[in-house]
This record gives sequence, C-alpha cells and structure tokens, in this order.
Amino acid sequence: MDETGRHPLRVVLRQAQRVLARAGVASPRVDAELIAAHVLDVDRGRLPLVGPLDDRTVARIDGLVARRATRVPLQHLLGHAAFGPLTLAVGPGVFVPRPETELLHEWGLAALRGVSEPLVVDLCTGSGALALALAAARRDATVHAVELDPDALAWARRNAEERAADGDRPVVLHAGDVTDPTLLADLDGRVDLVVCNPPYVPLATPVPPEVAGHDPARAVFGGEDGLSVIPHVVRTAARLLRPGGAFAMEHDDTHRDQVLALLAARGGFTGGTALDDLTGRPRFVTARRTG
Ligand SMILES: C[S@@+](CC[C@H](N)C(=O)[O-])C[C@H]1O[C@@H](n2cnc3c(N)ncnc32)[C@H](O)[C@@H]1O
Repeated sequence: MDETGRHPLRVVLRQAQRVLARAGVASPRVDAELIAAHVLDVDRGRLPLVGPLDDRTVARIDGLVARRATRVPLQHLLGHAAFGPLTLAVGPGVFVPRPETELLHEWGLAALRGVSEPLVVDLCTGSGALALALAAARRDATVHAVELDPDALAWARRNAEERAADGDRPVVLHAGDVTDPTLLADLDGRVDLVVCNPPYVPLATPVPPEVAGHDPARAVFGGEDGLSVIPHVVRTAARLLRPGGAFAMEHDDTHRDQVLALLAARGGFTGGTALDDLTGRPRFVTARRTG
C-alpha cells in the first residue's frame, strides 16, 4: 500500500503470481495479468499504465486469483475463450476450445480454397468453435454443427447468435449424436468439408485439475481406449462427404496409427495424412473422400 492507502498494481500482481505458482498453475504471470486486466477492463498490454488500485479493486482481483488457485479454468473466470479471431462465451457445461484445434480450422480453410458456397459440417461442436470460426472466415459457406450434450449446445447457441448478430451467416445447429447412422442424412454425399474434434482421451489418462473438474467428461474421454467415438466420426464423414470432399479430425497423440488404420479400413478415403501440433506431437488426421 502506498502513502495514499492505495495499492501499486505491480505489488498486487506479484502477490497473485506467488499464489498461482504455489497452486501449480502453469502460467501464473499470464493468468495474474489477464485476471487484473479483466477486473480493470483494460487490455493486458495497457496494465503498465494503470495507477494504484483501491481496496475494492484489489479484493476483486484477489477473489478471482483465489478461485484460479483452486484450478477453475481461467476462461471460466473471464467468461470467454479466444479461438482464432473469435471470442467465444464459455463456462460450466462446455469444453474450453484449445489453441491446437486452430490448426484444424486453418487446414479446413485451406481445403475450401477454390470451392464457392461450400457446405461444411462440424461434428462434436461444443462451444461452436470450429463451426463459427469457419463461418466467420467464409461468409459464403453454409455450416452445420452437431452436438449431443444439451448444456454444450446451449453455449453453442449463445455463441452462434452473437456471431450472427455480428453479420456472419448463421450456423445451423443440430442436437444430434455422431453414433446415429442417420445423422444429417439429407446432406449425404454433398458436404465439402467435415471437421471434428471428438472426445478422445483414454479413460485412465491423468488430466490436469482444470480438465478433470471443469471440462465435461463426455467432451474429454473417449471410453477405455479413447476410441469409442472416433470410428463413428469416420463413418459419418465418409457418408456425408462428396467425392473429393475434405476431412480433418483431431485425436490423441497416441492414436495416429490406429486412426489412419481406421480410415484405411473404412475405405472411401485417399491421402490419409497425420499432422503434428505446434509441439511436434501427432494430433490430427486429414484425408479426401474418393470418387
Ligand atoms: C473435445 S470437445 C470439442 C468441442 C469443440 N469442437 C472444440 O474443439 O472446442 C468434444 C465435444 O463432443 C461432444 N460429443 C461427445 N460425444 C458426442 C456424440 N456421440 N455426438 C455428438 N457430440 C458428442 C461433447 O459433448 C463435446 O462438446
């Protein structure tokens, strides 16, 4: 506290960082700064310009830091997550979109180059991240998104309404199950791009407290071996895609060979390719539907 009874921000941040580091938070400095920026309603980059804080503001920052120290995801505390150029509302009941999934978005966009008015399907949409990012980047696209969990679907709906209000073509949301062999049957053989980030973590895999306690289990775990949903996604994609249509799916870094084998066994795909994430781990497969 300074002589006027106010608190220099750097002191508040240093204390917050200590609390978060003790709690095992992976990026204590970034999280402390983002929480302070949120409370102060400024961009993180402008924090150095902020003057000393009053007791009430410090209490609000400390309160959020204390919750973050119990490993509530930062995005739940802020109420939103960044996904590519989008800011999506997230909170309890929906999977927080991850930066690595942006690679799927970029691959999908590249695959649509030269296709006008593309028809796109995002299976297992969660917050709507992939579907909404694709719709934002391709205003001529018709994008369908499927989600099984009603809570997650409610977040997707909220995000979709916000994007549509901002001028994007509305995404068509479906309450549906990717294991249903009749899912979106009216689109059979017509879709230009299918993307999917399904649940794929094997049940016994240890996950951080943010995931274990706050991401819905149905969004994360794909049964005993992590592969309970993926074969259905492959089957559905094969049915929906037109000849030459593109398919991209995220998977666990231990599943590359099994997922490529599933694609080969299903048949109807060509050019099955494994892609690495930015840390060099195999995390995606891509392929094209044969004619
Ligand atoms: C890993 S999350 C991905 C969410 C979003 N695509 C993203 O990348 O942020 C998987 C999502 O699939 C949904 N899901 C799980 N099983 C499903 C099924 N059988 N059919 C449709 N959606 C399912 C979960 O509820 C969850 O929202």
